[in-house]
Amino acid sequence: MFCFQNKVSEKVAFLEIVVGISGASGSIYGLRLLERLRARGGVGTHLILTRSGERTAWLETGKKAAEIRALADHSYPVEDIGCRLASGSFLTDAMVIAPCSVHTMSAIAYGISSNLLVRAADVTLKERRKLILQVRETPFHVGHLRTMTQLAEMGAIVAPPIPGFYHQPQTVMDIVDFSVDRVLDLLGLPETDAKRWGEKKSE
Ligand SMILES: Cc1cc2nc3c(=O)[nH]c(=O)nc-3n(C[C@H](O)[C@H](O)[C@H](O)COP(=O)(O)O)c2cc1C
Repeated sequence: MFCFQNKVSEKVAFLEIVVGISGASGSIYGLRLLERLRARGGVGTHLILTRSGERTAWLETGKKAAEIRALADHSYPVEDIGCRLASGSFLTDAMVIAPCSVHTMSAIAYGISSNLLVRAADVTLKERRKLILQVRETPFHVGHLRTMTQLAEMGAIVAPPIPGFYHQPQTVMDIVDFSVDRVLDLLGLPETDAKRWGEKKSE
């Protein structure tokens, strides 16, 4: 296994963001995040897609792995625990797992770094960089809740994609974008047209 790069744009990147897509429902959140990071520019994206993530994305969006990988500037095989994202010496600014399965969440909480996604998340935490986990499951049992508490204590931001409705969404993509907007806010990349409470937009 070797580390490959799938660089599809030569734009100057000011921020390097790792995006993980695991096998929880809601792969659209990861896909949309990649699309919007590309659209805004100035961000280099590094994608890790798990095998279950591939399967769920295919079931939910009809997109194949190659199409998803094409949304990122670089992508890495999840088995390649020797690639640069596995080392803290490779400088990244933040990591988002969208969506984050209970399996991946639990592995991160206990440092079971047996694939690149979990290893990269562990590196993000140990280097005190921002780790945002869009954990998706319902309902939660107390073990899930304890694990999320542990991750929050370790410095991760647990941000399940729970929609708000105060912005009166009209489409499914309005609901998806609401959660993606909150992730962009957490990354320090707020969008000017994001829907925010207390702000009236012109018609
Ligand atoms: C259609 C589908 C939907 C799933 N939804 C969820 C989910 O919402 N949350 C979750 O934790 N796991 C969900 N799973 C199960 C995960 O895919 C499974 O636990 C897998 O081992 C996760 O592996 P990964 O974390 O390496 O991606 C789903 C699986 C399938 C096929």
